Amino acid sequence: MPMDQMVQPLVKAGITVVPPRFIQPAESRPGPPVEANGSQIPVIDMSGLYDERRNQVLAEIAHACQEWGFFQVINHGVSPALMADILMVTKEFFALSQKEKEVNAMKPGATVGYGRLFETKNSVANWIDRLVMWTYGEKQKLAEPCMPLKPQRLGEVVDAYSNAVYQLCKRLIETLAVMLGLEPDVLGERLNVEGLGIRTSCNYYPPCPQPELVLGLTPHSDSSIFTVLQQDGDVFGLETLHNGQWFQVPPLKNAFVINGGNQLQHLRYALPAGFNDMTSMFAQIISNAKYKSVMHRARTNTHVGRYSFPNFLLPSDQTVIEPFPEFLSEANPPLYRSLTFAEYVNGFHSMPFAGGRHIDNFL
Ligand code: SIN
Ligand code: FE2
Repeated sequence: MPMDQMVQPLVKAGITVVPPRFIQPAESRPGPPVEANGSQIPVIDMSGLYDERRNQVLAEIAHACQEWGFFQVINHGVSPALMADILMVTKEFFALSQKEKEVNAMKPGATVGYGRLFETKNSVANWIDRLVMWTYGEKQKLAEPCMPLKPQRLGEVVDAYSNAVYQLCKRLIETLAVMLGLEPDVLGERLNVEGLGIRTSCNYYPPCPQPELVLGLTPHSDSSIFTVLQQDGDVFGLETLHNGQWFQVPPLKNAFVINGGNQLQHLRYALPAGFNDMTSMFAQIISNAKYKSVMHRARTNTHVGRYSFPNFLLPSDQTVIEPFPEFLSEANPPLYRSLTFAEYVNGFHSMPFAGGRHIDNFL
């Protein structure tokens, strides 16, 4: 991507009118924000998974998945200091000169670097600049190295942060298995937990002079197994599609937002009792695509830049993504063919981008 398309330099130059390439068609503009109150998108205390509150917490997660496909977690094992650190080094990165940032410019076809992913010549541009890195999983890091040398502390902070996020992912995978009535290790084994990688996007949405006309990120679902997202302390921006309406996912200091990605939708499960009406995240796993991975988007605002950190948990390229055999029957034939993650990614990235991507567009 030519670097003159980045957003931050425009804002620095003091533009008061958004360039046409960022302007969404009328039907895609964000409209007035709709707040989901705190109790609607539950905040799960993960420490409760390991004491007498366990069943209650599992029920709360199930409820969250049923209603929203998103939930937030606290007491998740990633220290507030690390969460503050990643925010600080990211701010330092974006404060570097344009020339210094461009040392790590995203190369054509790459998924890491400084740039903006997933935009094509014909799509409306998103009001976002990103620094994307493989932060966990040695193979992935070797294949696509991208760790800026500046700011100096970035590499060290990212390593500590992603190691902690990986531990959280492992606990979430076990939790998910138990929710599905499987042994805690089964899902991890199938997904080859030791071969998992994490790609972290350090997102920066500069303040926007006309936020009503643009989107920070157009509606999309993630290509991850699931995404562990750190929002900026108190800046709203993330929205999720629920019953045809966009609701804000409230930012909560030191919490992570968890949302399901498309990979989960490939795995096929029978519906355990009590899960019949799930309309989102874990339902993707258990419903054989009756339910979809959750569409979300980000909006911008006039007064303050917003940072966010989605950590995408991704299988290794060779991992076969397929319906689980124990959940298949004559009455429940597989809807998805087996494919490796690499095959999946190739299909995904070669798709035209038209107001959001969804797994069903290419399956
Ligand atoms: C994302 O969907 O990748 C990021 C959303 C956000 O900025 O909160
Ligand atoms: Fe996303």
